Amino acid sequence: MQSSKEYINQHKDRFLNELIELLKIPSISADSAFSQDVINTAEVVEKALIEAGCDHVEICETDGYPIVYGEKIIDPKLPTVLVYGHYDVQPPDPLDLWDSPPFEPVIKKTDEHPDGAIFARGASDDKGQMYMHVKALEFMVKNDQLPCNVKFMIEGEEEVGSVNIAQYVANNKEKLKNDVILISDTGMISKEYPSITTGLRGLSYVEVELTGPNRDLHSGLYGGAVANPINILTKMIAALHDENNHITITGFYDKVEELSSEERAEMAKAPFDLDAYQSILDIDSIYGEKGYTTNERNSIRPTLDVNGIWGGYIGEGAKTVIASKAYAKISMRLVPNQDWEEITDLFTTHFESLAPKGVQVKVIPHHGGQAYVTPIDTIGYQAASKAYETTFGKVPIPQRGGGSIPIVPLFEKELDSKIILMGFGLDSNAIHSPNEHFGLWFYYKGIETIPYFYKYFAEMMAQEL
Ligand code: BES
Ligand code: MN
Ligand code: MN
Repeated sequence: MQSSKEYINQHKDRFLNELIELLKIPSISADSAFSQDVINTAEVVEKALIEAGCDHVEICETDGYPIVYGEKIIDPKLPTVLVYGHYDVQPPDPLDLWDSPPFEPVIKKTDEHPDGAIFARGASDDKGQMYMHVKALEFMVKNDQLPCNVKFMIEGEEEVGSVNIAQYVANNKEKLKNDVILISDTGMISKEYPSITTGLRGLSYVEVELTGPNRDLHSGLYGGAVANPINILTKMIAALHDENNHITITGFYDKVEELSSEERAEMAKAPFDLDAYQSILDIDSIYGEKGYTTNERNSIRPTLDVNGIWGGYIGEGAKTVIASKAYAKISMRLVPNQDWEEITDLFTTHFESLAPKGVQVKVIPHHGGQAYVTPIDTIGYQAASKAYETTFGKVPIPQRGGGSIPIVPLFEKELDSKIILMGFGLDSNAIHSPNEHFGLWFYYKGIETIPYFYKYFAEMMAQEL
């Protein structure tokens, strides 16, 4: 029987060229100027699923961008794997920081990727990783090695919070019914240390608007005599952390899950090179919440970050002005048991209380989602672990991740499924940043590994009965 590795070797160039075509479409869900491109991408994914061997594929309309649904049901009595991914991408800005245009994919060799990496927006997050599943399906179907049923749900609004997807999941519980959900939209430690993501953080995203005087003022005539919203906003933001970098919002930590010292000791075993971490980012020191390690700060601890701040004059030269308004976008990463809507309320109350007389504060909630943790004693996790062991020659390390995928906790709630996060990206892939890329070695390794997940999952499920 042919192995996935052999099949990949025979179809290497085509697998790459198909991904390149997908990456050329600017499916930026956040920017309505690209809405037609987002819709076109759904059609390319639809076609790819048909060609890979799904026997039923459809484009499902939502109040936002469509969901591409595909399935291959070989025997209703067999277990079903639901694959989720997203075909939308983040805006590529700032464009001038890209070495090559974000939607003109190029292959380049780097120190970290001697076999080459593909540079384009979405290369790793998530077109490249999602497409590994399409090609893994192709291998299994063409070689008669699909051991169970498979369903695909590929959406186009993940990067804007998956707000319309919840409705779709709630309305299609029977259709989406599965025994495990498989997602490649996260990362791993390295080639040498494969890892499986066992948790995602939740998110609360808000925008704040401060208004002082009703118009922009001459800063000489009025400066010092009226509240300057930009001065005040920066003061208020600074007050959101104390000297130990704890968040000061009243009640913020009340429900935070504290890990036992055993769990923290287990986490500390994961390889981590502080010097490499700093030098890759050109920083001379790390920074964060007192009492926690870097790996804890970016996974099991909640955080608050300003994502953008603006107001006043930012054009060429100087303009002496006190702006009427100041704005910021703020995200809070949350951990298990923190409820994102409750945190949004706590933030709002606290932030409003920080404002002195003379300014008005408006907090506009955007989107959010809950945190998620995958247990490792499930068949799904064990099958994934064995799959990595087969193709990497090493048992993967379970590791909690810092990012968020809002649909994941909803899947668990609505479909009562466990979610397996088989990510093949690296932190250095620069997702959401200029020069996003995905190593070709990882792309092909993902396609090679995924069929083993199906094999072991089907075998272990059969033993279970
Ligand atoms: N794929 C990422 C999430 C991710 C990346 C998790 C790496 C773990 C490791 C996803 O596309 C993403 O960017 N999510 C957003 C969610 C938001 C837009 C609602 C995030 O985490 O900022
Ligand atoms: Mn993603
Ligand atoms: Mn993303």
